[in-house]
Amino acid sequence: MALDITPIDPDDQPTLDVVHRIAATAEAIDEPDLPPLCRRRFEGALRHPMPGLDARWSVARLDGVPVGLVRLTLHLLDNTENASIELVVDPAYRRRGVGRALFGHARRLLGEAGCKRMVGATRAALPGEPDRELPGAAFAAALGAKAALAEVRRRLDVATLDHARLAGLLAEARAAAAGYRTVRWRDHPPEEYVADVADLEGRLMTDAPLGDLEWEPQRVDTEWIRGMERALDARGVRRYSVGAVHEASGRLIAWSLLSLAANTTRHAWQQITIVDPAHRGHRLGLLCKAENLEHTLGYEPELEVIDTYNAAANTHMIAINEQLGFRPAAGSTEWQLTI
Ligand SMILES: CC(C)(COP(=O)(O)OP(=O)(O)OC[C@H]1O[C@@H](n2cnc3c(N)ncnc32)[C@H](O)[C@@H]1OP(=O)(O)O)[C@@H](O)C(=O)NCCC(=O)NCCS
Repeated sequence: MALDITPIDPDDQPTLDVVHRIAATAEAIDEPDLPPLCRRRFEGALRHPMPGLDARWSVARLDGVPVGLVRLTLHLLDNTENASIELVVDPAYRRRGVGRALFGHARRLLGEAGCKRMVGATRAALPGEPDRELPGAAFAAALGAKAALAEVRRRLDVATLDHARLAGLLAEARAAAAGYRTVRWRDHPPEEYVADVADLEGRLMTDAPLGDLEWEPQRVDTEWIRGMERALDARGVRRYSVGAVHEASGRLIAWSLLSLAANTTRHAWQQITIVDPAHRGHRLGLLCKAENLEHTLGYEPELEVIDTYNAAANTHMIAINEQLGFRPAAGSTEWQLTI
């Protein structure tokens, strides 16, 4: 049997269609409660990468049949020694060495590019979850990666949202947030707050607990935010945001974002929630997040579930999420491997 690994050209739609199908089939097994993998969002990571990211995808063919893919993301502005890896093999072709061969290809390519570490995530069991086969973790460990960060995906079932309780939490948060007011937006942040959004986004990755991951703060400026917005527009991602403005300075110092992929009206991701360290302790995280739920539901009446990832150790954010009704749905492990 001949195994061939070749780069994927962003304009090669037939190959993108096939690898999307492989990734969607694998995700439906690992994460059966998620909606189908959105093709526009999937392809967008290669066709419209975020500013400063270099996406390199390769497909593995066994006797000419596409059977797996590896998606590498290199960082050009910061974290230049780090790369992300997502590796998927068609469930019908597993345990034949395809994963190992794709990994070898990735390691070579990243070594040539001067990268020193790769980081990738696999599905993990939640405490108390019945044992079932989770091949990603066995694979990562077999290849010498170290588990660096435990994460939990929590889910809010919108039908069970207690609106009276939400109104109560919002009233309490507003009372604790004297001197701040909220602003809402869809998709693009208002021009006057773009620089503040860049400051908040820049500290996001390293403010949350990172476990043993070696990750530098991200370099973000207004140009980067505009580039990110263009990439998300091209992927068809709908975004809803609530921010908090410090009235004395006029600066946006907290922000929460929910997003929906182009192929769904029933599922959203709770993404960023961040409060500037100088303004913590005023319930601004809860305020922005809870108000953004109302904001989003106003535009997305068919929304049924919202998922969010947190580091298992991020007790503060988890407490907010639990107050809003989010409950554990799946585990995930971030692995790191020295090249
Ligand atoms: C993880 C995955 C990529 C492995 O692909 P694969 O082609 O089956 O992997 P290989 O055949 O090259 O396996 C390499 C080694 O990993 C380990 N391994 C892989 N699958 C395993 C499983 N189900 N149970 C136990 N060990 C496993 C074994 O040590 C194996 O070596 P061996 O077959 O000689 O014992 C595939 O199962 C997959 O796509 N999973 C979903 C996505 C994912 O979790 N990706 C990984 C992280 S980015």
